[in-house]
Amino acid sequence: MAAIRLRLAPKVLRPVVAAVIPNLYRIRWYRYKILQLISPAIKQRLKWYREQPEYWDARLKTGDTLTVDWLVEVSEPCQLTPEMIAHRLTGVSFGATHTTTNHVTNCILELAAGFDQWAIPLREEIESVLGPNPEAITNADLSKMWKLDSFMKEAQRFHPLTKLSVNRKVLKPFQLSTGELIDKNTHICFPGVPISMDDQFFNDAKSFDGFRFERLRQDPDTRHNGLQFTSSYAGTLHFGHGRYSCPGRFMGSLTSKLLIIKILLSYDLKIKDNGKRPENFTFMDLDMPDPKYEILIRRRKSSRSSGRRRRYTPGSQINTYKSLTGNPSLKCRSGVIARLTIKY
Ligand code: HEM
Repeated sequence: MAAIRLRLAPKVLRPVVAAVIPNLYRIRWYRYKILQLISPAIKQRLKWYREQPEYWDARLKTGDTLTVDWLVEVSEPCQLTPEMIAHRLTGVSFGATHTTTNHVTNCILELAAGFDQWAIPLREEIESVLGPNPEAITNADLSKMWKLDSFMKEAQRFHPLTKLSVNRKVLKPFQLSTGELIDKNTHICFPGVPISMDDQFFNDAKSFDGFRFERLRQDPDTRHNGLQFTSSYAGTLHFGHGRYSCPGRFMGSLTSKLLIIKILLSYDLKIKDNGKRPENFTFMDLDMPDPKYEILIRRRKSSRSSGRRRRYTPGSQINTYKSLTGNPSLKCRSGVIARLTIKY
């Protein structure tokens, strides 16, 4: 938000605008807090890196490392300071959080709006892969859930976080194969949403069809590598594309799937008064769920997400829908998930 506000001001006025908008004070304050929290861990890594290179190399090879280890390993020596590593870690965490929560919220809204249509086949798929008493979910399990993967990709096709994709700044002039010359310093991007809503790429592109990508993957005539949630191709560019496409998309996909599985196995959802999916709102090219939406939630009768059956009394309060909304602190992102699991 701070960057957007700053960019709205002419370059010469930016130092003045920066001094008066509250966002930058908040950013500096959070940076300071994060540095305080993470500094001991960074200093420990820097010590290993500089003073015990053999231990450091062996440590990296275990694969049991954190983002902070990776940031120390890949940074230029002159940038190996706690401030710089903490700054980068904050950037990665920021990139990981709003994207994933935005996506999960869109999935929840699609589920709530068409619960019987989507939840029943999704539950069947999840339960057939995990068995009756799931204790743990592995990546191999998730890779068998094609319907879930497809549902996620379709939810993203309709509501990616940004409507424009693959934003790039041109560093040296080049010519497209069609003849147009692109000058140095030009900002280019692809109209990701209009492309993925075009009938050239999808049959009946404007209808939400949660299992369309599953069908495309099943059919030998239509299958290709871009149809999985984390893959990109000309039709779906919502994780970016090419060398600089989102490096965290596998984690984003994993987290989103685990959350949706948890919700599907434990709860029924619907939009209040059997209403329609609430419209998202758009700010610049951002597409975000409306924090004022209302969905209802109740514990599923045969819930077994924790591996044991819960006592369930028909008609008891636990079986009635409860409203999730209105409370501004609830917002429409990960907070909702927290409520889902904590409240009952
Ligand atoms: C559903 C979740 C996510 C979505 C939709 C998403 C989307 C994107 C998009 C569209 C880009 C720009 C790619 C391009 O310009 O080609 C991007 C970049 C990036 N994402 Fe994600 N992301 C998600 C999750 C994550 C997670 C979980 C992490 C970190 C753990 C992450 C870290 C990054 C980073 C570091 C970049 C910058 C890459 C670069 O500039 O080289 N993302 N993401």
